[in-house]
Amino acid sequence: MQRTILFFTYLFMVGCSKEPVNIYESEEFKKISPKDLVVGESVWVTTCFRCHMYGSMGGASVLDKVHFDKLAAKGFDHIYSSVLNGLAGEKGVMPPKGSCYSCSEDELKKAVYYIFNLAQIVQEAEIINQSVGEENSY
Ligand code: HEC
Repeated sequence: MQRTILFFTYLFMVGCSKEPVNIYESEEFKKISPKDLVVGESVWVTTCFRCHMYGSMGGASVLDKVHFDKLAAKGFDHIYSSVLNGLAGEKGVMPPKGSCYSCSEDELKKAVYYIFNLAQIVQEAEIINQSVGEENSY
């Protein structure tokens, strides 16, 4: 009996101390299919976009690499639970389900992967833009 309790205490501790996997480095993120991205994108354009494209209503812009790198490091479970339950940020509030009330959990998960995928793409484009700008400025 005591052994069993010890065993479960051990499992609990291991479970809690587990470092989250950075979303960008997770297998799920790397292997997401184009079809799932389309589902994620449809959620993005109808809801998330409003706050996270340019950083309106207190949401962080996907162009903000520093912020999104920090978010990615928190791991998928943490991020997904914020989107599902809603989150009060310093400058604004994200409603539960990121305000996509008709979305299923599956669609919301795909939206989370989509937003990180998009963040990487737009941030890379931004870096290229900046370096082209520097070359042309003389
Ligand atoms: C009404 C504005 C609004 C909408 C719509 C919205 N968000 Fe947010 N979101 C916020 C605010 C405000 C925060 C807190 C500040 C931040 O980190 O951007 C936030 C935070 C987040 C975070 C960081 C969570 C964390 O744990 O730190 C993620 C990821 C996110 N939103 C994704 C989404 C997705 C995906 C959708 C669409 C399903 C969405 N948001 C829709 C305003 C919004």
